[in-house]
Amino acid sequence: MIKELVYRNRSCRRFQEQRRLTKEDLLGLVDLARCTASHRNAQELRFCLVWEKEQCDKVFPLMVFASALGPEGQPREGQRPAAYIAVLGESKSQNYLWADAGLACQSILLGAAEQGLLGCIFGSVKREQIRPVLGLTEADPPVLLVIALGFPDEDFVIEEGALEGSRDYWREGRTHHVPKLALSDIVLERKGE
Ligand SMILES: Cc1cc2nc3c(=O)[nH]c(=O)nc-3n(C[C@H](O)[C@H](O)[C@H](O)COP(=O)(O)O)c2cc1C
Repeated sequence: MIKELVYRNRSCRRFQEQRRLTKEDLLGLVDLARCTASHRNAQELRFCLVWEKEQCDKVFPLMVFASALGPEGQPREGQRPAAYIAVLGESKSQNYLWADAGLACQSILLGAAEQGLLGCIFGSVKREQIRPVLGLTEADPPVLLVIALGFPDEDFVIEEGALEGSRDYWREGRTHHVPKLALSDIVLERKGE
């Protein structure tokens, strides 16, 4: 079950934009992040939810989609994300905030995949420009990542990647190909003393 979900949980950037998500849908996903591991259980992440079309339209241009594909990576109108979850956080007490953020994102994305949704984590976000769009005040923490979500409008194939080769993903028609290294490439077989 988890294997199937992880394999299905590809970064999706083209969506059936007309199939909208509700605030309740997004709250259900953030609830999974709420119950996810956190360094020292500090729980310093905060989340902003965007689901209304008008606000989605303002968030969309503030993120860089699939830069490895050039202009082809940019979803067309009608294929843009149906919702966003911004992950915010600032910590004075711990160095593991980004680990917490990654885990929270994965919980959200796996929960989405279970429901037939897909999403994509965005690190390339215009972090200052997105703040007023989200209605954030100076007292609110910085935006770390943004997750785009929706019902997928593209297909995915995991390809065998080569250790020495390119890690770039590519597209053929409506299929997004993503190379992954072999287990034998990533598991280091070393002999301990
Ligand atoms: C921390 C992080 C930041 C990312 N930032 C972006 C981004 O700004 N734009 C984008 O299109 N994809 C982004 N991605 C998605 C990656 O490109 C994607 O994970 C990678 O191509 C592998 O594809 P997969 O998620 O389907 O395995 C990001 C992924 C992670 C984990």
